[in-house]
Amino acid sequence: MKVLVLGPGGREHAIIAALLRDPAVTEVHSAPGNAGIAAVVPTHAIDANSPEEATALAERLDADLIVVGPEAPLVAGVADALREAGFPVFGPNADAAQLEGSKAFAKEIMAEANVPTAMARVAHDAATVRDCLDAFGAPYVVKDDGLAAGKGVVVTQDRDEALAHAQSCFDAGSSVVIEEFLDGPEVSLFVICDGQRTVPLSPAQDFKRIHDDDEGPNTGGMGAYTPLPWLPEDFTEEVVRRVAQPTVDVMADRGTPFVGVLYCGLALTRRGIRVIEFNARFGDPETQAVLARLKTPLGQLLLAAAQGELDGRESLRWDLRTAVDVVMAAENYPGTPRKGDEISGLEEAEALEGVSVMHAGTRRERSLSGTTSVVTSGGRVLAVVALGEDLDDARSRAYKGVEKIDWKGAQYRRDIAQKAAAGQIQVPTL
Ligand code: AMP
Ligand code: GLY
Repeated sequence: MKVLVLGPGGREHAIIAALLRDPAVTEVHSAPGNAGIAAVVPTHAIDANSPEEATALAERLDADLIVVGPEAPLVAGVADALREAGFPVFGPNADAAQLEGSKAFAKEIMAEANVPTAMARVAHDAATVRDCLDAFGAPYVVKDDGLAAGKGVVVTQDRDEALAHAQSCFDAGSSVVIEEFLDGPEVSLFVICDGQRTVPLSPAQDFKRIHDDDEGPNTGGMGAYTPLPWLPEDFTEEVVRRVAQPTVDVMADRGTPFVGVLYCGLALTRRGIRVIEFNARFGDPETQAVLARLKTPLGQLLLAAAQGELDGRESLRWDLRTAVDVVMAAENYPGTPRKGDEISGLEEAEALEGVSVMHAGTRRERSLSGTTSVVTSGGRVLAVVALGEDLDDARSRAYKGVEKIDWKGAQYRRDIAQKAAAGQIQVPTL
């Protein structure tokens, strides 16, 4: 099986690493990829968000499966174009990707499917925003309605900050969704969907804020771990039954079947499970941890989903160890990141047992003297992934890897999975 993976980031590097472990996968191609991906498979410098360019490349390669990594190409209709050209595609069409592309649309589907989520209202003007903020009370949750790479959400005690965020979304031509605050630990559950049936992966937890102790602005995600030893035993089954399957059923009934990963971002509140958000793709950086443990051949699983042939009874096989990943980001991220800094220590980190480095914002640069080096080229630069016997072991291996790697202005959180390792995560009881 020849697989083409679209996207430039750490999630795509992790997907490619897992595909290469599948004995049925004979060839993997990436577009556009990054320096880490280019070290393991051929990369193609196309605009992966362009339906025409993606289809032309799939035709030239005669690909047997195309996996679309990020949300931008999905919302831009890349999966639609590839399907029309006859390719099996893992990733939803643009209409189904609206589950991620529009928070208001996601709320509408959740209402129709009876999926538990935060109370919310859509606002198009400042007066409505003020009414909603006062109705829900603090902490205030204000979300850009459109795609914002994880950075469009402000959660704050400060009413003026909430109002200012809404205004900046209006100024950019967007509307906002205002929500009740959900209190409780967050979980990401990825559910593989074939349009009708659903197969859940292992739950993970992400760390959204830039600084330790969940301080500072939201990012795309600064680290993750899996599995979650503190979760109730029936958690995954309950999310599939109450969230994923009803959503997939409603999408199928509407004639916009969902094929790909339904990413369920959840909060465990005192009143039970609530959906915080849906995404239409694998999460980043959770995927780097989740797929590190997956033993079931990934290419065959994604091809079955793309062809509408999951049998719904798949039992996935997992490495029994724990996976932790720590994201290293460029100076000033999640603001405009500094780029072009040479990264040192990549090989030393990779040489550690149980450690691998998944690249995100990296590129290979040739100096005047002809030597090449890997330099930073984005906000989140890489994730150091480690497998260990338990959370303590996996954390300590991941941070040993992080300590080998450096560039000017590199930043990372020191507390990824720390609370879980110390047994300090409280699941509110009903
Ligand atoms: P989203 O892009 O919707 O996932 O939001 C990004 C992050 O903001 C989430 O991972 C949560 O940490 C936080 N967040 C979003 N919505 C809520 C909510 N209703 N209550 C509490 N925190 C939220
Ligand atoms: N880690 C959050 C996301 O992928 O949206």
